[in-house]
Amino acid sequence: MPPTDTTPEAPTPQDPEGGSTPEDAPGGAKDPAGKSVSTRKEDAAEGKPAADLPRGGAPGIRFEKVVKRFGSNVVLRELDFTVEPGERVTLIGPSGSGKTTILRLLMTLETLNEGVIWIGDQTLWHMDRGGKRVPANQKHLHEMRKQVGMVFQQFNLFPNMNVLRNLTEGPVRVLGVSKDEAVERARSLLDLVGLADKINAHPTQLSGGQQQRVAIARALAMQPKVLLLDEVTSALDPELVVGVQDLLRDIARQSDLTLLCVTHEMAFAKDISDRVLMFDQGQIVEEGHPDQIFGEPAEQRTRDFLQAVLAS
Ligand SMILES: Nc1ncnc2c1ncn2[C@@H]1O[C@H](COP(=O)(O)OP(=O)(O)O)[C@@H](O)[C@H]1O
Ligand SMILES: [Mg+2]
Repeated sequence: MPPTDTTPEAPTPQDPEGGSTPEDAPGGAKDPAGKSVSTRKEDAAEGKPAADLPRGGAPGIRFEKVVKRFGSNVVLRELDFTVEPGERVTLIGPSGSGKTTILRLLMTLETLNEGVIWIGDQTLWHMDRGGKRVPANQKHLHEMRKQVGMVFQQFNLFPNMNVLRNLTEGPVRVLGVSKDEAVERARSLLDLVGLADKINAHPTQLSGGQQQRVAIARALAMQPKVLLLDEVTSALDPELVVGVQDLLRDIARQSDLTLLCVTHEMAFAKDISDRVLMFDQGQIVEEGHPDQIFGEPAEQRTRDFLQAVLAS
C-alpha cells in the first residue's frame, strides 16, 4: 500500500497516555533494555555515576519521504534523514521551516500525510498486518511512543502538580511502575538535575531554569531511548542557559540515548552533536560533522543561515 493511502489515528488531547495536553505526552520505554556499560570514551573522563540514565539498546530514527502539510502549507517535502542508534544529531534551520513539526511527528503529536518514519526496525505510524503495511492503531502508537521523550521550549510541566508528581505521574499511569519505584527514581533524577530540595515545590515556585531541569528529569523518568530537545534554552534568561546546556551535555555523554536536538545556540550544537543537519524548505540542505558545517559549510543556504544567526 502506498503511504498516501494511510490515515493513522492521532492521539487525542484526552488520551490518558498523553497527560493533560498533547504537549505533555510523556514519552519513554519501560524496558530498560539492559544496562550495558557504554563504550564512549568521554564517559570515563566524566567520572560521575550515570544515575539511572538509559544505557544500550537505543534505536535509530529514519524518515523516508515524509510529507507533512498544514492545509496548503507543505512543511515537509519528501523529507529523508537518518539518526543512527545512540547518535547525537542537531537540526538547525530558519524559524518556521518545520523543525518542531519533525519532533512532534516523532512524539505522535502530529499525524503524517505521506512517507514512513522508523524508530529502530519498527515503523511509527504504520504496522504490519499479514505482511501488509497498514495505518497504526492506538495500541501500536502507544507502544512506539513509549520509546520517545521530549523536552519543550516552554517546559510544559503539569501546573497543578508538585515536582514529585510531575516526575511520577507518567511512570505510574503510563508505564505501570509501582509508586515506590517511581518515587525512588524521581529522587535520583532530581539529584542528577540538581533539584533534590525542590521535590515538593510547585512549578510556579521555580525559576525558568529550574522548571526546565524538572522537565528534563520528567522526560528521563519515562526511560526513553530517544530524546528530543526543542530549543530547550530559548525561553530562559541568558544567565540560566549555560547551566541547562551543561546538564544536557552531561546527560548526553553519560547515556546511550539517541538524541535529536533543535537549537539556535550554535556553540551548544557544536558541543553536543556528532552530526548537524541543516534543514530548510522541507528538506535537508546539508549535513556533516559540526566542524564542517560551522567551519566550512558547503551550501550557500547554510552560509546565509549561519551568518544571520551569528548576527542576531
Ligand atoms: N498546528 C499547526 N497548524 C497549522 N500550521 C502549523 C501548525 N504547526 C506548525 N504549523 C506551520 O508549519 C510551519 C513549520 O512550523 P514549525 O515546525 O513550528 O517550524 P520551526 O520549528 O522550524 O520554527 C510554519 O509555517 C507553521 O506556521
Ligand atoms: Mg520550533
